Amino acid sequence: MDVTGKIAVVTGGGRGIGRGIVLALARNGADVVVADVNPDDAAGVAAEAAELGRRSMTSRLDVTDQDSVDGMVEEVTARFQRIDVLVNNAGIYAAPGFEERDEANEDDWDMIYEVNVKGVVRVTCAVKPGMKDRRCGKIVNIASIAGRRGSPENPPYAVSKTGVISYTQASALELAPYGVNVNAICPGSLWTPMWERIALRRGGSEAENPEGLAPRGFFERTVQRNIPLEREQTPEDIGNLAAFLASDLSRNITGQSINVDGGLRLN
Ligand SMILES: NC(=O)c1ccc[n+]([C@@H]2O[C@H](COP(=O)([O-])OP(=O)(O)OC[C@H]3O[C@@H](n4cnc5c(N)ncnc54)[C@H](O)[C@@H]3O)[C@@H](O)[C@H]2O)c1
Repeated sequence: MDVTGKIAVVTGGGRGIGRGIVLALARNGADVVVADVNPDDAAGVAAEAAELGRRSMTSRLDVTDQDSVDGMVEEVTARFQRIDVLVNNAGIYAAPGFEERDEANEDDWDMIYEVNVKGVVRVTCAVKPGMKDRRCGKIVNIASIAGRRGSPENPPYAVSKTGVISYTQASALELAPYGVNVNAICPGSLWTPMWERIALRRGGSEAENPEGLAPRGFFERTVQRNIPLEREQTPEDIGNLAAFLASDLSRNITGQSINVDGGLRLN
């Protein structure tokens, strides 16, 4: 999975899955840009990548803000001259306060769409002209197994991830004539701050959690019950596939959405 010398931007790279992707790319030889709305988290991950012997930088990025997206691309191009790999990982599960709501509300629908769908579109549109000019590039979108099936717990989240899968296919067809590969990864269940929110909400329900398990225990029980391989997935698992999709080993794979979920969804 050699990505030596490639310049890779990871949105939402400051923690969780994004951190795992940054470090996997760096371990496999890439220079990395940790682009996140939280600059302190981004700085910590960029320092970890530098310890692996790679060039790294941070860029404060809000994927919901076009000026911020354009500023990130300018900043990276000024430092590294180009972007070879884009990983659209930044995503949210809900608007603030979702843990206390019975159902997703208008804010959830709007915020999730802004970040998870339009955020991916904004950053892709800002990065793809350079890739088209150079006639090469790799884009990896982080979708979710939630995008494979409707979710009664959080419909707007599942809808947004189905949108990411569809946009991946559209981008793959658009960019194939320019030698750019576009694929998605559908992660399963990972213990990150995002799943902590899910556990707080679902674990608070008597019907779902009659034993009153703490959030981490509720997560472990969900994994044991639902996932054929009976183990959680890790940011490193997602990072390894992202590095493969960013490498030339995957040159004939495009428009695909690949599950990393221990066998939860089979397609
Ligand atoms: N954790 C899981 O089980 C799981 C499963 C499937 C898919 N995913 C997807 O993986 C991705 C990462 O999830 P995670 O679990 O690491 O989440 P997380 O909440 O731990 O991390 C998300 C990162 O994105 C950043 N971010 C949020 N909004 C942003 C914005 N507007 N602009 C730029 N950065 C922003 C945050 O600062 C944070 O660093 C998301 O797209 C998520 O939907 C997660």
